[in-house]
Amino acid sequence: DDPAPHRAEPLREWRRAPVRAAFAVAVEDGAGDAVRDVPALIGGEAVTTARTIDSVDPGRPDRVVARSASCGASEADAAVAAAAEVAERWRRTPAPERAAVLFRAAAWMRAHRDALAAREVHEAAKPWDQADADVCEAIDFCEYYGREARRLAAGGEVESPPGEHDVLTYEGAGVTAVIAPWNFPLAIPCGMTAAAIAAGNPAVLKPAEQTPGVALAVVEAFAAAGLPDGVLGFLPGRGEEVGARLVEHPDVAVVAFTGSQEVGLALNAAAAVHRPGQRHVKRVIAEMGGKNALVVDADADPDQAVPIAVRSAFGYSGQKCSALSRLIVLDRVWDAVVPRLVDAVRELAVGPAQEMGTQVGPVIEAEAQARLREVVAGAGRHGTVALARDDVPGDGFYVGPTVVTEVDPASPLARDEHFGPVLSVFRAADLDEALALANDTDFALTAGICTRSPSHAARARDELRAGNVYINRDITGAVVGRHPFGGHGLSGVGSKAGGPDHLLRMMNPRASSENT
Ligand code: NAD
Ligand code: ALA
Repeated sequence: DDPAPHRAEPLREWRRAPVRAAFAVAVEDGAGDAVRDVPALIGGEAVTTARTIDSVDPGRPDRVVARSASCGASEADAAVAAAAEVAERWRRTPAPERAAVLFRAAAWMRAHRDALAAREVHEAAKPWDQADADVCEAIDFCEYYGREARRLAAGGEVESPPGEHDVLTYEGAGVTAVIAPWNFPLAIPCGMTAAAIAAGNPAVLKPAEQTPGVALAVVEAFAAAGLPDGVLGFLPGRGEEVGARLVEHPDVAVVAFTGSQEVGLALNAAAAVHRPGQRHVKRVIAEMGGKNALVVDADADPDQAVPIAVRSAFGYSGQKCSALSRLIVLDRVWDAVVPRLVDAVRELAVGPAQEMGTQVGPVIEAEAQARLREVVAGAGRHGTVALARDDVPGDGFYVGPTVVTEVDPASPLARDEHFGPVLSVFRAADLDEALALANDTDFALTAGICTRSPSHAARARDELRAGNVYINRDITGAVVGRHPFGGHGLSGVGSKAGGPDHLLRMMNPRASSENT
């Protein structure tokens, strides 16, 4: 039977007391969990390694949350061999069967939704609403790509002249290495893995070192869904060891990567090298960083623009590829917007992700904290530091929300992705200057405008150089099936996660023509 059309998983209604109470219990339960063991999965078997990697609670770094395997080249080779063995069988598994596995994985995550979100609170320091949204997105990816697999099974449209029967079909391209970041610790590894599995490809998932305990849920969901052994491998470990080996492996046909520009470009180059025994040109999906701009137009409503800017810049402490880091305010509304923005940032609740009201938690790790604190300390060289909060908890990897105005557009503050709670603000004389400033970056991921002028909204839609353009709304929070997500420029290859083009990146098209 055809499934009902895809509908996004509704987010929790946090205004309802019973919803908050239930989640508080899940967070409390998670706090009592023992250190989570995270083995590798190779050919359906759990595998441990002599070396391990600890991930910690970023708000209480003395607390180890998970202890994962630390896989290397030999585990990568074994997982790819197990995947290659089942590749043909999985490719030929009918799309409705593949889709059914994805729907069952989604159902498992739905049934464990609060517990999974609580895992994110403890291991990734995601505030409650962000953790819940991440689990919903993971569910959405499975539901959406399951339907996409069924749609693509019908093939593409081609002409058949009289006397000839022409068909265009799509089939899985082969073993897919999935290399994931920590900042959407379930949605992104689950989404890339679900896409590969939906497309008919065995997947070998390498989660981020910082969040293996959350990523383990991908393994749990697909095991509960009855995915055959070998179709999913799971290799926690260091990027430069197990990740690099996966990218180089001659039997890997597709590399699906989401992470930093530096690693994405290096991995793109490594995958381009043809190696002995390799019978294909590797496809690389590389979705990378952003330096995203929001324009506040001269006629914008400050009551709308300020909350949009604050949520977009400081949600999950600015640790989103989609996050706002460059706010461009038209001169005419500067005085109505900027002081109000600074006041709003001063009021943000900074604290442990475990607490219900927290809006800005700690950043992910000590290295990020040290790097960001240096950025804040040097910000006065590139602009006027309007606010650099130091009222943050002493324990944990906290960085105070910071706003810097009149930033020099040529400075590193304006150009580099810092991936933290630091917002640069620029003044523009008119819309032309504002759009030029917004586009003055090598990245092209998200961008937006707050305006009451339809013609300016239309110009922003046409002229902003970004994969996702948002008008009068937050520039983060793309929803699967509604806002196919991903950038171009040096932000990505335009593979658009959660959109109708995505699975095709992992499939081979085949045309056949029969003389009838
Ligand atoms: P990262 O590039 O440091 O790591 C991402 C993954 O790559 C990790 O699993 C890591 O272990 C692995 N890796 C590192 N070196 C490797 C190597 N040499 N070979 C193979 N794999 C290697 O990124 P991160 O810190 O985990 O995530 C933050 C970055 O991700 C930011 O730049 C952010 O903008 C970006 N991001 C982009 C998107 C998007 O959709 N465009 C979404 C989320 C995050
Ligand atoms: N998909 C995530 C967002 O839109 C990165 O914020």
